[in-house]
Amino acid sequence: MSEEGFDLKYMERHDLRDLVTFIPNKKQPVYNWFYFKEGFSRELIFLLFDKFDSKEGDWVLDPFLGVGTTLLACKEKGINGVGREISPLFVFVSQVKLEDYDIEELREYSAQLFQHRFKKPDLKNIDPFIKKAFEKHNLEDIIFFRELLLDIQDMKIRNFFMLGLMNAASKVTYAYKDGAVLRLIRRKTPPLRPLYKRIIKKMINDLKKMEWKTSTIDIRVGDARKLDLEDECIDYVITSPPYLNKIEYTKVYEIEYKLFMGGIHLNPVRSYMGLMPSIKVPRDFPEYIIDGMPLAAQAYFIDMWRTLKEIHRVLKDNGDAAIIVAGGVFPDRIIESDIVIAKLGYLIGFKPRELWAVNKRVATRNRTIKIGVARESILFLSK
Ligand SMILES: C[S@@+](CC[C@H](N)C(=O)[O-])C[C@H]1O[C@@H](n2cnc3c(N)ncnc32)[C@H](O)[C@@H]1O
Repeated sequence: MSEEGFDLKYMERHDLRDLVTFIPNKKQPVYNWFYFKEGFSRELIFLLFDKFDSKEGDWVLDPFLGVGTTLLACKEKGINGVGREISPLFVFVSQVKLEDYDIEELREYSAQLFQHRFKKPDLKNIDPFIKKAFEKHNLEDIIFFRELLLDIQDMKIRNFFMLGLMNAASKVTYAYKDGAVLRLIRRKTPPLRPLYKRIIKKMINDLKKMEWKTSTIDIRVGDARKLDLEDECIDYVITSPPYLNKIEYTKVYEIEYKLFMGGIHLNPVRSYMGLMPSIKVPRDFPEYIIDGMPLAAQAYFIDMWRTLKEIHRVLKDNGDAAIIVAGGVFPDRIIESDIVIAKLGYLIGFKPRELWAVNKRVATRNRTIKIGVARESILFLSK
C-alpha cells in the first residue's frame, strides 16, 4: 500500500483473528476476573512484545487500557506499564487485577467474611432498575456483603472482595448484555453466597498461579487525548481505541456502576472518542482527510489526531506503536479507519510501517444489501 508519500507494508494475518478478541483470556487466571467483550488477549500482547524485541525495564503505555490486559502482560514479563483509561469502572478492575497481594491475608479475610450470618438489609434506597434485575434474596445477599466490604479499611483488600462480588452479581442477575443495551430475562439463578465464596477461592488460587516479575505499574483515570505524561518517556505503545461508529457500551455496565461504584455518574464512553461533532477542530488538523465523511467519523478522527499527537509526544525517538482498529460501517460506506489513522500519523511525523489485516467482516444494510468489507487490523507506526 503506497499513497501520498507514505509506505505501508500490508500483510494478511488472519491467524491472529482470535487473539484480537478477549476470548483466549477467558481461560487465563487473573486476566479473566472481569469479562470485557471489547478487550484483546494476553497472547496478542506477548506476540507484540516479541515483535518489538522488548526487554525487562522497558516502558509500555496503553492509553485506552480497558480492563488491564496490556499491563498484566507487562507485569508477567518485568516490563514497566503505564495505563490510562477514561472509565472509573475499568480503572478499578485493572487496579484490582494488578495489585500485589498477601495471599494469607486474603485467606484470613475470606474466612472472616463468610462467617458473618446473613442479616436482611434495607432495600428502600435501591434503584428500581436494580431491584428488577435480581431475585430478591440474591439482591439482599449482594447488599449485605457490599455493606460488610465497605467497612473494610484496607482499600486493597476491600477492592479485591468487591470485584469478586461484582463478578458473582454478574452471574446471578437477570440482566443480559445485548449489544448496547441491557435486557432483563427472568431465569432460575443460583444462590449468591456459595457462588461468591467459590469465586473468591478461585481468585485467591489464581494469584498463587501467577509468576510476576518486578516492574512499575502506573494506572490512572485519564484521557488519551491529553496524557499526564512527560515527553519521550515511553518505549512502545500497545493499544486499541474504541472502534469507529461501534455501539456505545457504557449503558451495559449500569449495574456495576450503580451497585459497586457508588453510583458514579455514567459517562457515555464513546462520546470521548468522536461523538461530539461540535468539538473545536485543532488549528493544525488536516481537514481535507475527513472531507465529506459523516460527522461522527469526522469527530472520531479529530479525536484520534489528538491521541496520536500525544502518543508521538510521549514516545522516545524510534519508539513504536501498535494500534488495533477496525473499519467503521456507515449505511452508505465503509471507512477504512486504519488507513486514515496511518495518514494522520504520517502527517504528525510517524513513519507508517506495517498493516496487518487480522479480520474481515462483510457489512450489510437491512441484512441483504452489501455495503462493503470492514477490516480489523493492527497498524504499526514508528516515531
Ligand atoms: C477497545 S477498548 C480497549 C480494551 C483493552 N485493549 C482491553 O483489552 O481491555 C477501548 C477503551 O478505551 C476507553 N476510552 C474511551 N475513550 C477514552 C479516552 N478518551 N481516553 C482514555 N480511554 C478511553 C474505553 O472506556 C474502553 O475501555
